[in-house]
Amino acid sequence: MRTLVTGFTGKVGYEVAKKLKAENVYHVCAVRDPEKAEAAFGDEYDFVKLDFSDPGTFDEALEQVDRIFLMYPPGGNFPFKKFLEQAKKSGIVHIAYLSLKDAQYIPFLHHYKMEKLIKKSAIPYTFVRAGYFMQNLNDFLREEIKEKQRIFVPAGKGKTSFVDTRDLAEISALALVHSERHKNKSYAVTGAEALDFYEVAEIMTNILGVNIEYTEPSVKEFKAYMEKRGENKAFINVTAGIHISTKLGLAKGVTHDYQKITGGEPTNIRTYIEDFKEYWEG
Ligand SMILES: NC(=O)c1ccc[n+]([C@@H]2O[C@H](COP(=O)([O-])OP(=O)(O)OC[C@H]3O[C@@H](n4cnc5c(N)ncnc54)[C@H](OP(=O)(O)O)[C@@H]3O)[C@@H](O)[C@H]2O)c1
Repeated sequence: MRTLVTGFTGKVGYEVAKKLKAENVYHVCAVRDPEKAEAAFGDEYDFVKLDFSDPGTFDEALEQVDRIFLMYPPGGNFPFKKFLEQAKKSGIVHIAYLSLKDAQYIPFLHHYKMEKLIKKSAIPYTFVRAGYFMQNLNDFLREEIKEKQRIFVPAGKGKTSFVDTRDLAEISALALVHSERHKNKSYAVTGAEALDFYEVAEIMTNILGVNIEYTEPSVKEFKAYMEKRGENKAFINVTAGIHISTKLGLAKGVTHDYQKITGGEPTNIRTYIEDFKEYWEG
């Protein structure tokens, strides 16, 4: 078996590649800029060029692989129908697709459409429907936390069942390696507890030894501030949308698929903050 890992430079793809490497599972990492990736990672990983917006890159990326960890990049309308047609032709036998928890109920989401497309392609699949990533705290929320000691999202007092992307990678790797067992299954993967951002701020304060506040901005305040910071409109709207649904109580559902599949407990947010401490320090 040989797996193509897409989104290698992202929060989940990198962890999937790490897992496969640790298990000695042959894989190749898809990036838009292989030279840059080679400069950063040396010969630690093998790279191939893949740009979902450029069908001219699909053939080479699909050469000599039979499985794919597939993610949908943020934004954009990508020609995934074409990608899946070529994947089918080139003999892909399994796709682990990074989806979103409850995506099957939300027809306007690209994940809803992607799941349908994958099913239609007749390539066996596992849908890893993820909850809100813990790693958002060291990604797009990092700057505010580090520079201003605050979590600035319009999530009200809503709770979120934060999941560690390392746990999502573990489920994805298992689905790829034991593809028969996980064939055409969908898993909703969250952490074991739902927390509001006041609780997250308190945990961060205790672990980092710096007072981190959750300021509970309104949607209007959040959008105005993000615009002032020069963020792009699509990003602001998506980020606001995600946290509005949290405010409405839609992100609090805790599932047990991680425990059922692995027999273990999902990563606790305290462990995650300890492990990623350096992102918010100094
Ligand atoms: N954040 C959450 O809480 C959450 C929860 C559930 C599901 N999700 C889903 O997770 C996915 C994002 O995963 P992530 O957070 O691991 O990614 P990420 O950290 O946002 O990184 C984005 C990745 O996409 C790659 N990429 C961007 N444009 C590309 C293109 N045209 N062709 C090929 N690759 C491209 C980037 O590679 P380059 O180095 O080339 O830029 C990078 O590896 C989204 O579909 C999102 O809906 C997110």
